[in-house]
Amino acid sequence: MLADKDRIFTNIYGLQDKSLKGVRSRGLWDNTKAILALGPESICDVMKKSGLRGRGGAGFATGLKWTFMPKEVKDRPHYLVVNADESEPGTCKDREIMRNDPHHLIEGCMIACAAMRAHTAYIYVRGEFVREREALQAAIDECYAARLIGKDNVHGWDFDCYVHHGAGAYICGEETALLESFEGKKGLPRMKPPFPANMGIYGCPTTVNNVESIAVVPTIMRRGAEWFASFGRANNTGTKLFQISGHVNTPCVVEEALGIPMRELIEKYAGGVRGGWDNLLAVIPGGASCPMIPKSVCDDVMMDFDALKAANSSLGTAAVIVMDKTTDLVKTIARYAYFYKHESCGQCGQCTPCREGTGWMWRVMRRLETGDARVEEIDQLWEVGKQCEGHTICGLGDAAPWPIQGLIRHFRPELERRIAERAKQPMAAE
Ligand SMILES: Cc1cc2nc3c(=O)[nH]c(=O)nc-3n(C[C@H](O)[C@H](O)[C@H](O)COP(=O)(O)O)c2cc1C
Ligand code: SF4
Repeated sequence: MLADKDRIFTNIYGLQDKSLKGVRSRGLWDNTKAILALGPESICDVMKKSGLRGRGGAGFATGLKWTFMPKEVKDRPHYLVVNADESEPGTCKDREIMRNDPHHLIEGCMIACAAMRAHTAYIYVRGEFVREREALQAAIDECYAARLIGKDNVHGWDFDCYVHHGAGAYICGEETALLESFEGKKGLPRMKPPFPANMGIYGCPTTVNNVESIAVVPTIMRRGAEWFASFGRANNTGTKLFQISGHVNTPCVVEEALGIPMRELIEKYAGGVRGGWDNLLAVIPGGASCPMIPKSVCDDVMMDFDALKAANSSLGTAAVIVMDKTTDLVKTIARYAYFYKHESCGQCGQCTPCREGTGWMWRVMRRLETGDARVEEIDQLWEVGKQCEGHTICGLGDAAPWPIQGLIRHFRPELERRIAERAKQPMAAE
């Protein structure tokens, strides 16, 4: 179990004083000047050595990503954009950081900006997060008033931080759709290349990072890369905010070391599965887009990037959705299929597989729910998912088939049972 002294987020439940005075007593904004004075290369080196992988879902190495920014600032300023869109069903960690521990994020933005030779950070907050925006803005105002940030601040690195709010669309969490939306346009993902590090907001070099990825930076810089890397295992280091929801006794958000066994995580922090561990049916380990895994896999799988990949799923955002034996898994996944159909931006051009495929998959899932389908359609569904995956502009087209694939991979007999049951019933009169 992670010791309290090793928790980065000391006020994730909002029980402590969240004013600047309070957070300073817990170690934030302590000699930030010395961290900034290390300069871009050294800060990026520490981040690379820490092994931090992005906490927004894809798990790309954060320090490495920062080094993709140009090494010199020429005619175009550099920007950091923080992705606080948090719309993946099951995911609810960034909102806790913003409303209860926002100074981690603000100080992290300043350090990340210095590492990428940027002087401005924009935090793009999901439209529905009103209280989170207020808390974040209040913390930013305190920092300006204390001259911790702004022009001619006490740290010697000019830095401005702005909160921008979206209108509430899942696709605006995709980094290039986010940039479009930020610029006041429709949230339609951009074709890549060019990548944001070369051509981001206003055509300038930009890095987009998740809230949690940035909020852990100050502590890593203070306590050292080795300290952070001492949690978890190679390629899967550090502590992580896990979010446990669904059929557990005490749903919660908790910081733990990567690699904690799933069962231990659920039993120690979420009060266990409703009705006991043996009442578990399946778990979606990282948010809606991650394929589900059945109890037999959950029994001893570890919660990290590589272990869940080996189990044909993914850590995603570490949003653990627990489903006990009362769950109608087919209905659940049909609902997810509807979500992806609804949230697909449906843009023309090269994105036919997602635009058409998400609707097609949802319609088949709806029929599978009631058994009004043919067994061959299960294979067709799998095949159409494979045609969608990897053939679209953005990751939504990849993610949409994954929940369906998890269902077919592990619970195909249930789909076939429904079809057989339905076939025994008389057809409704025309
Ligand atoms: C449809 C879609 C929605 C996404 N939503 C989010 C989100 O809400 N928050 C987030 O940080 N990343 C989201 N991502 C991932 C981002 O595109 C991007 O990879 C991430 O913000 C990078 O940050 P990181 O490297 O710090 O993880 C989404 C991706 C897709 C395809
Ligand atoms: S994959 Fe889907 S959501 Fe992404 S750009 Fe294409 S149509 Fe839009």
